[in-house]
Amino acid sequence: MKSMKAVCIYTYGGPEKLVYEDAPCPHPGEGEVLIKVHAAAINPVDWKIREGHMKEMLHHTLPLILGWDVSGVVEAIGTGLVRLKLGDEVFSRPDISRDGAYAEYIVVRESEVALKPRTVDHVHAAALPLTGLTAWQTLFDAGGLLAGQRVLIHAAAGGVGSLAVQLAKWKGAHAIGTASARNHDYLKKLGADQVVDYERERFEEVVEPVDVVIDTLGGETQDRSWKVLKPGGILVSVVAPPSPEKAASLGLRQAFVFTKPDASQLSEIAGLVDTEKLKVIVETILPLSDAARGQELSERGHTRGKIVLRVV
Ligand SMILES: NC(=O)c1ccc[n+]([C@@H]2O[C@H](COP(=O)([O-])OP(=O)(O)OC[C@H]3O[C@@H](n4cnc5c(N)ncnc54)[C@H](OP(=O)(O)O)[C@@H]3O)[C@@H](O)[C@H]2O)c1
Repeated sequence: MKSMKAVCIYTYGGPEKLVYEDAPCPHPGEGEVLIKVHAAAINPVDWKIREGHMKEMLHHTLPLILGWDVSGVVEAIGTGLVRLKLGDEVFSRPDISRDGAYAEYIVVRESEVALKPRTVDHVHAAALPLTGLTAWQTLFDAGGLLAGQRVLIHAAAGGVGSLAVQLAKWKGAHAIGTASARNHDYLKKLGADQVVDYERERFEEVVEPVDVVIDTLGGETQDRSWKVLKPGGILVSVVAPPSPEKAASLGLRQAFVFTKPDASQLSEIAGLVDTEKLKVIVETILPLSDAARGQELSERGHTRGKIVLRVV
């Protein structure tokens, strides 16, 4: 059986539980492709799963290969494929309930894969799927953001926020972000209309009412976010479901998004990158064998843009 290098966990716990080792190379089945991984991005969900925080929800069997953001080349195809062919350069946010992309190869369903943007390399393409889909599905699918509306994006300098600010501007909305002072110039260059220094100001005191809030922090940030919404506005969270009772009592709306793979949204995102509407920001590039260091950096909570593992 062919083997590959991969980063797995056998038990839940800290970064020391990540094992860089030889693992069996998977085979594509019906409707699936085998991708030769060139790069895999790190997301907070990777270390949340590693720590066991999501085991009730996702029911993984261990050992598990982590990492659900990939860019690479189609190396083998299963049966019944309709779009992809050998040699296609692709990117994907694979199904999070299956093995991930901290590996030399991954099997992914065709429905989760799109051609990568032509104008960026695999490291930058790998930084896009999970956060790009999250930004898209929170702003547009759940938030219904329209041109001329106002949106407050929390943690705007992070992986999700950096793309959400740009997508909101592309849509023609007014984008407001929260970040520490070190990220204000960065966010203005990405197009943010207003940046709030969360270490020195209370956003609900300095932000005029908005139509949509994107909550990437939960806790008291989510609690305080109700105050900045216009009547009928919507609080969209990706970290903790906002209370429907609270929303109703305030005449507001709420939604919780758990991002879904979506090849057609990925194609739209690739098109925006190739037409220079969307910049991909990668702060740190590490080898696959340094996944533990990448997760430690992510877990500190101050990544600007993305951390990516280069595999090839
Ligand atoms: N439900 C889903 O499907 C889904 C999908 C994607 C992400 N998520 C979750 O969403 C969260 C964000 O993900 P991400 O990938 O964007 O994370 P990330 O890249 O690690 O976010 C880092 C950013 O957070 C900012 N930050 C930290 N504390 C802040 C605060 N109090 N106020 C404002 N900004 C703050 C930092 O800016 P400074 O350095 O300036 O502080 C940094 O730029 C994570 O918890 C992740 O698990 C959920």
